[in-house]
Amino acid sequence: MQDGGTSPSIAAQALTARGYTLPSLVQSLRTGVTPNGDVFGGSMAEVVHGSTKFLLTDHLEDMATYLLDLNAL
Ligand code: HEM
Repeated sequence: MQDGGTSPSIAAQALTARGYTLPSLVQSLRTGVTPNGDVFGGSMAEVVHGSTKFLLTDHLEDMATYLLDLNAL
């Protein structure tokens, strides 16, 4: 990472294990707040505040559906 931070796995299994569901992942991409009440740090905070918070719910749901699809790839 440019800022020296680390980025956790966002594989479907890893996201599910960290408590993400379709609605909570949509909520996190919109607000930057994770299901356990933490906030995205580093460059992911910029991604939310400069990009994903502006997306339509339909689009966020499509992204979350893809990210949580255990059969993807
Ligand atoms: C639309 C594109 C993106 C999506 C859908 C996405 C999705 C996610 C998700 C779901 C997480 C949460 C993982 C977790 O903590 O449980 C995450 C974390 C993270 N992402 Fe992204 N990401 C995107 C773009 C990016 C980009 C472009 C960068 C870097 C330039 C980035 C850097 C990070 C970092 C550093 C974290 C860890 C944040 C933290 O631990 O506080 N992401 N991302």
